[in-house]
Amino acid sequence: MPNNRTTLIAGNWKMNNDREAAKALAAELVEALPEVPAGVEVLVCPPTIDLCCVAHKLEGSGIALGAQNCYWEASGAYTGETSVPMLKSAGCTYCIIGHSERRDYFHESDEDQNKKAKALVAGGIVPVFCCGEPLEVREAGTYVEHVVAQVKAGLEGLELASADQLVVAYEPIWAIGTGMTATADDAQEVCHAVREALVELFGAEMADGIRVLYGGSAKPGNIAELVAKPDVDGALVGGASLKAADFSEMVVKAAE
Ligand code: PGA
Repeated sequence: MPNNRTTLIAGNWKMNNDREAAKALAAELVEALPEVPAGVEVLVCPPTIDLCCVAHKLEGSGIALGAQNCYWEASGAYTGETSVPMLKSAGCTYCIIGHSERRDYFHESDEDQNKKAKALVAGGIVPVFCCGEPLEVREAGTYVEHVVAQVKAGLEGLELASADQLVVAYEPIWAIGTGMTATADDAQEVCHAVREALVELFGAEMADGIRVLYGGSAKPGNIAELVAKPDVDGALVGGASLKAADFSEMVVKAAE
């Protein structure tokens, strides 16, 4: 059965580029995608410090702006953190949370993601909630349970008024930045399990409208096959999002 979810191609720039390079990349993207093709939504997530200058470059384009992380308190003595209202005022409409790099290197827990997801939805920013298994879990064969547990713990008690208030990104850790992409069938298997978990959390109708992305070495050569899968609604793109030509090619291919 066809769905009416809009494909989302999201770029996660991670900790790359200085200000001039960020501005140049944003300008190149706007030039490469003067119009975002029908049926696709495009998002870029620069480092926090470059959000404002990238927002300026994206003005008037169809490309949305997102952050890579946030803190759940609105303001106060939290040195080094960035709140949801701050991201909102910088022009963000999305925010990645729970990326495996945050979970692993900065010891962020499922509970942290849950607080961030709630703060984002309450503040009018769409969380791009990441989940995914490490290689040992993949090899042990328990990856579906692992990912479903992350989704349930991270999103429990979240209240959604509409399905476009949440995006989930399945990113098997062994495929991130390694060039090892999960096959489209691997992606579909877990994205489908994620959707079933979303049915339990939010009900069937809501879950049917929530976008579930795949991430992990997504590139121009595999994007068409990935988004052709019924439960894969786009991609969270790291490495390939740093090249305007590759990223815009992915957008065009996803639209086709
Ligand atoms: P990659 O990163 O595309 O470079 O594998 C994806 C991600 O971490 O979001």
